[in-house]
Amino acid sequence: MKKIIITGGAGFIGTHVVRRFVKKYLDCKIINVDKLTYAGNLTNLEDLEHAENYQFIKGDIVDANFVHELFETHQPDGIIHLAAESHVDRSISNPLEFVMTNVVGTVNLLNTAKSSKNPNFRFYHISTDEVYGELGAEGLFTEETKYDPHSPYSASKASSDHFVRAYHDTYGLDIVISNCSNNYGAHQFPEKLIPLAINNIKNNKAVPIYGDGLNVRDWLWVEDHARAIEEIYFKGKTGETYNIGGHNEWTNLDLIHVLCNLMDEKLNRPKDSSKELITFVKDRAGHDARYAIDASKIANELNWKPSLQFKEGLSKTIDWYLENEKWMERVTSGAYKEYYEKMYDAN
Ligand code: NAD
Ligand code: DAU
Repeated sequence: MKKIIITGGAGFIGTHVVRRFVKKYLDCKIINVDKLTYAGNLTNLEDLEHAENYQFIKGDIVDANFVHELFETHQPDGIIHLAAESHVDRSISNPLEFVMTNVVGTVNLLNTAKSSKNPNFRFYHISTDEVYGELGAEGLFTEETKYDPHSPYSASKASSDHFVRAYHDTYGLDIVISNCSNNYGAHQFPEKLIPLAINNIKNNKAVPIYGDGLNVRDWLWVEDHARAIEEIYFKGKTGETYNIGGHNEWTNLDLIHVLCNLMDEKLNRPKDSSKELITFVKDRAGHDARYAIDASKIANELNWKPSLQFKEGLSKTIDWYLENEKWMERVTSGAYKEYYEKMYDAN
């Protein structure tokens, strides 16, 4: 049986990648390795608990001994590396944690992977468009755009990308990297803009907009990202980078207006009432003005395209959060942590 390690599989995107692989590749064992920081939520994967081709292992990629043991025990065929500290605002208040997980953790995995006994071992590193810095009103990030990270988060991701390429060039490790734009969808921790806004609107709380709200992000439905990850893991060319994006640019303010309108409809509230919750707050330090991805390489080489129109995706996303009130309650109260203790610590 082939074995693939997925790091960060209890996080937002990891959840969707793990589920996709476990359900589709029954002849392949999927080993989800996650430290379960505040962002790791195993209740996201409750439905896979008893799947025969799935295993969860709690562990910290910063711990080199743990990583070494993990590879010795399981002898994986490849790794899809998503584990990271992922929130820009947290990186501004605690940069070192980002260096530890995103840089040191990645290098620990690379060191172990380069000594893998499997000659075909593949290292797939999941990265972000934020490594390219910011755009003005025109232009798109391509795979050739020079790195120019501005936040401690993007600097740590840029550093890890460089290490991954260095291990390909120096040690001949089979690597692929993808740099994706902003994801949205089910199971996202409500510190990020879309789930935070949905939850606040539902509870009639202020929706904070940083600065003037004119910063632009390129939004992609998380399940489209998971499908791109599957294509790249199996078919991406060694040593290559693939940009992934939604061709879907929105200013934060316009996005929140659309969200408010949809929430008014879904909650049967008077038209324009949710917009009254919009509150402009102090801007994020070093706030990048605009991100936008040229995803033509992955479209041409791997035949991947986003599948959903944004308004449809946003509507589905809102429905998921409204239908899964318990999920949100367990996350905001911290009760989601008890699930791991009940399921795994007891054994
Ligand atoms: P997330 O914060 O929701 O999840 C991260 C996961 O990593 C969590 O389950 C956490 O417990 C785990 N983790 C953190 N530190 C760890 C450690 N030291 N050892 C083991 N596990 C650890 O993040 P996400 O939004 O799902 O992002 C996943 C990856 O995709 C990240 O590498 C991120 O940089 C990248 N990415 C995210 C987006 C986005 O819009 N969310 C876009 C592009 C790229
Ligand atoms: O571009 C990819 C990146 O997208 C990923 O690499 C990161 O892991 C992911 O967190 C995301 O980063 P952003 O900083 O773009 O996402 P966030 O949801 O934090 O913010 C989206 C935009 O909304 C950004 O311009 C900041 C703004 N914002 C955010 C929050 C949380 C607000 O205006 N108000 C808020 O309360």
